[in-house]
Amino acid sequence: MPTTIVMNHATPHCEQPHEFTTRWHRFARRIEPLRSVVRQLREVQDRAVDARWNVNTTTMPPDAPHRPQRADSEPYETIWYPVLRRLLRPLHATPEDVVFDVGSGLGRPLFMFARRGVKRCIGIEASPALAAASTANASRLRGKRAPIEIRRGDAAVADYSGGTIYCFFNPFGPQTLRAAMSRIHATVRESPRRIQVAYFNPFHDHVLATCGWLTPVRRTRPVLHTIVGTYWIHEPESRRGS
Ligand SMILES: C[S@@+](CC[C@H](N)C(=O)[O-])C[C@H]1O[C@@H](n2cnc3c(N)ncnc32)[C@H](O)[C@@H]1O
Repeated sequence: MPTTIVMNHATPHCEQPHEFTTRWHRFARRIEPLRSVVRQLREVQDRAVDARWNVNTTTMPPDAPHRPQRADSEPYETIWYPVLRRLLRPLHATPEDVVFDVGSGLGRPLFMFARRGVKRCIGIEASPALAAASTANASRLRGKRAPIEIRRGDAAVADYSGGTIYCFFNPFGPQTLRAAMSRIHATVRESPRRIQVAYFNPFHDHVLATCGWLTPVRRTRPVLHTIVGTYWIHEPESRRGS
């Protein structure tokens, strides 16, 4: 029976200073019983939303590998529904938006956009099992107001054309992130348009900071939660300074 529980904090491929880690681990151990109760309550709420929407974004499919897909891939985790709602709010998605979730997992952010009503939702997912499960989820989703397409494949070589919003929830390390950003940049050079990029748990923000074609516009952290979101925009030449 698939019992892997989806947590809400992705593990970075990066190192923390030793003293900080030791103190943090001591503190974390002390409050672990409380954290465990909070996690269980969040999971109950997530399952209730999943049931209302007729999807399953909380439990891993039995055939999904627990190991990452590519060298610098992070495993599947998702964001507690109320926090995700707050993180997506600054994007002000409209019915004209074409939304990509890069490393889309079981589809939770895409389903939130699709129920809100955007033009199109596209997920890129490397794991065949997660891509299949999210496709099944998408076909069952209640209250869907936009088409959802899940593309199985590596984000480093994916087609990003036509997007206006690109979301990343710490899906991979700097190497794949750099490749994905360079492909997104190629699409805006070919077809100039305004785009927004949202990066949750932005462990490799420095990659986006080196993209001169992107401007940072916001950094946010929902109250009482550890997930940070950074937001970036690209404006076509013709709209800059106007
Ligand atoms: C932290 S999870 C986020 C899932 C989803 N975006 C969400 O917020 O619920 C990262 C996802 O990225 C996928 N992933 C990792 N490396 C990838 C790659 N190179 N190409 C496409 N997907 C990848 C993983 O399989 C996993 O499902």
